[in-house]
Amino acid sequence: MTDHVVRTLTDDELRASQDLFRATLHVKPLTDDQWPSVRASLQPARSLGVHEVDSGALIGTARSFDSAITVPGGGDVPLGAVTSVGVRADCTRRGVLTELMHAQLREFADRGLVAAGLHASESAIYGRFGYGIATRARDYTVDVRRAKVRQDAPAGGRVNIENLDSAMERWAAAYPAMATRPGMLARPDEWWAGLRSHLAREEGPVTAVTHEGTGGVDGFAVYSVDRPRPGSATLNLIEMQAAGPEAFCGVWRYLLSVDLVHEVTASVRPLDDPLELLLTDPRAVSTTGQFDDLWVRLVDVPAALAMRTYDGEPVVLEVTDPVLPGNEGCYRLGPDGAVRTDQPAELQLSVDTLAMIHLGAWRPSQLVDTGRVRETAPGAAERADRLLSTATPPWCGTFF
Ligand SMILES: CC(C)(COP(=O)(O)OP(=O)(O)OC[C@H]1O[C@@H](n2cnc3c(N)ncnc32)[C@H](O)[C@@H]1OP(=O)(O)O)[C@@H](O)C(=O)NCCC(=O)NCCS
Repeated sequence: MTDHVVRTLTDDELRASQDLFRATLHVKPLTDDQWPSVRASLQPARSLGVHEVDSGALIGTARSFDSAITVPGGGDVPLGAVTSVGVRADCTRRGVLTELMHAQLREFADRGLVAAGLHASESAIYGRFGYGIATRARDYTVDVRRAKVRQDAPAGGRVNIENLDSAMERWAAAYPAMATRPGMLARPDEWWAGLRSHLAREEGPVTAVTHEGTGGVDGFAVYSVDRPRPGSATLNLIEMQAAGPEAFCGVWRYLLSVDLVHEVTASVRPLDDPLELLLTDPRAVSTTGQFDDLWVRLVDVPAALAMRTYDGEPVVLEVTDPVLPGNEGCYRLGPDGAVRTDQPAELQLSVDTLAMIHLGAWRPSQLVDTGRVRETAPGAAERADRLLSTATPPWCGTFF
């Protein structure tokens, strides 16, 4: 397309880009009161805009913040966290998003970011740009009247209600030690500012609680409560992290004890979240949805493959990547690491499918069954299943 240009936005263009993005989600523009807290959540020089050449109007935007993702083996892979993607409704389906995505991926590659990640509003959009579903999550509700904690469950430590601002400083300091599961993201200061800004827009009061174990802060939660009529209150869990069983159980003992609440809703929890196993009646917990969570794009495939660990017999993958062709070729993965190889391919797959197996969210053999992976050597998919499997399912747990 030649009737518009893509470039990095200047500071004084950021509010307009945020309002454009909100309009694409059918949300009102920011008020003067809201803008300072939203501004604090934006990293400088990470917002792209598309302007029409003739009118100079802003018609599309996408931004990111610099983060890192935990990969199997515990390493941190530099990642651009993509968000605020939108194209003005009267300019869609003209390739504007495509240009934004390509420009952003080139920029990430130039800055040495190894991966990109996003949460997709619709699941049909991002595969074409090389993103694949790298973590999944589930929503559940808890019937509080049935939810009695088993006697043999961990006791947990002390849970304190705190002022949100001071709590967030303590959470930010404690969070890196909690982000050990594959798929979890580093949270820069701007992410915490974004959470503060999001919570400020909640209609009702929000409550912040911190769990302290023997080593200090090891869990936290923030929630709001809807109480449409007496005797019918729902506690909505907005954010919860716990570094281990004591913190997990301690926070849940508190949440299930809040007076007047008959139901707790929790969203985007790990697939293996063990809450029902803590309860005398596991059916007190009902899963209400299971869906894609973080979509990952491997920007530098050789680096991304080399930065995780593998356990099992080696396998050779052949990767295709029409958007970033420098990633294409064969890679040998094994306990010694991952390197480019001239050996023949045993499994063939595209870069978006590679992202689906990189953190262990899907087994390669499942993807053979659905045609996403082509097996060219018998038994290779089963070998790859073992090589890439992880002890726990990956989970992101950070919304942006
Ligand atoms: C989603 C959105 C950004 C797409 O922008 P766009 O400029 O229309 O996208 P493009 O014209 O570059 O489309 C590229 C391809 O993706 C497809 N596509 C785009 N949006 C799609 C959608 N929502 N569902 C399915 N396919 C979609 C296009 O049909 C096109 O396919 P083709 O290459 O086969 O022709 C835009 O529609 C939008 O702003 N939507 C509302 C806000 C939103 O959902 N933002 C995303 C937040 S994660």
